[in-house]
Amino acid sequence: MQRIAILGSTGSIGENTLKVAAQYPSRFKVVALTAYNNYKRLAQQVHQFKPKYVAVGEESLADFKRLGIKGIKVIPASHCSEIAAAADVDTVVLAMRGAGALMPFLAAVRHGKRVAPANKEALVIAGELIMKDAKKYKATIIPVDSEQSAIFQCIDQQQSPLVKVHLTASGGALRNVAASRFDRMTVRDILRHPRWKMGPKITVDSATLMNKGFEVIEALRLFNLTHDQVKVVVHPEAIIHSMVEFADGSLLAQLAVTDMRLPIQYALTYPHRLPSHVAPLDLIKLGQLTFHAPDTKKFPSLALAFEAARKGGTLPVVLNAANEEAVDAFLAGKLKFTGIFKVVEKITTRHKIVNSPSLNEILAVDTAARAAARAMIG
Ligand SMILES: NC(=O)c1ccc[n+]([C@@H]2O[C@H](COP(=O)([O-])OP(=O)(O)OC[C@H]3O[C@@H](n4cnc5c(N)ncnc54)[C@H](OP(=O)(O)O)[C@@H]3O)[C@@H](O)[C@H]2O)c1
Repeated sequence: MQRIAILGSTGSIGENTLKVAAQYPSRFKVVALTAYNNYKRLAQQVHQFKPKYVAVGEESLADFKRLGIKGIKVIPASHCSEIAAAADVDTVVLAMRGAGALMPFLAAVRHGKRVAPANKEALVIAGELIMKDAKKYKATIIPVDSEQSAIFQCIDQQQSPLVKVHLTASGGALRNVAASRFDRMTVRDILRHPRWKMGPKITVDSATLMNKGFEVIEALRLFNLTHDQVKVVVHPEAIIHSMVEFADGSLLAQLAVTDMRLPIQYALTYPHRLPSHVAPLDLIKLGQLTFHAPDTKKFPSLALAFEAARKGGTLPVVLNAANEEAVDAFLAGKLKFTGIFKVVEKITTRHKIVNSPSLNEILAVDTAARAAARAMIG
């Protein structure tokens, strides 16, 4: 029996993780669930899965406690690290959004847990520290983000190192929209992703292609690569989730339908593969798979992320912090879609990079970049 903590259980990844756990009740015991504002959905999940620990965002904590659910320990969401470190938790699924996942991620690796990160922001801002500690404390990290899961699956059991990674990108909601129309894009337009059904923040990042840029940095950290080893290829069908190239020129790819239950289940059951509720691929019906180069002029956020990947240090911290603030402002109707790039570009251009930053330096740079972005937006 694997005891699982799902941090961010009310989101898109969290709900899919619960579907996987519910399919194998004799294998998985959900011992912790956390949410931020959606305490009502959290309460329903608590009734169904009967966890021991629950965390809720500070603003909804009193409302949740008022429901009077017995037999659970309720803590504020800012204390999620306690859950990640708890002795009766084997696996931590990081399904929460944003850089707030950093401290629970570090707590989980420092307690030698199996960690299944869907969250990418923590790896973008502090991937080097996380991977160093994972090695030191013998934690196992099995990525859930579908591209990183694909790479992990392609290199598993290989005796030779990879030469290159080809990260696939579906192209997001604006792939076929002229850049001249970007200024008029509404939140509704942007949240209509053609392939994946995800939370709002990552869906906006997919439209700007910042999400792909974050994945480039995530891959560098998870697989210890240099920036010139990661290529992005647009693949609108989103069937190949990424590819790995070896010294002989061979490419290995992982293909599956676009359903996050697959990488989640793989991360939970690795090194085994169990039957899933996901339909296998019908290649004949699919007919063809297409590929082309990303357009970094149309999607300058990707170019910005490539630069942050190349320069490293605290630049990815600033990139992420400014982006989180700008995306939140866009979703709240306070910033135009094209304003997201403008804010992130200005804040990152100004930044004086600190190389090999400590955790305290990362946290300080994150706070300062958020304040600067908020002031600029305001
Ligand atoms: N969705 C996907 O298919 C997908 C694929 C690959 C990677 N990812 C990554 O996985 C992460 C989650 O994505 P998602 O699409 O599932 O997001 P989502 O649907 O917005 O869900 C986010 C979850 O985190 C909680 N949360 C929000 N802000 C928080 C905070 N400040 N502190 C603690 N918890 C907080 C939310 O609680 P409330 O519901 O109460 O707000 C919710 O449970 C992101 O980092 C994303 O980049 C997602």
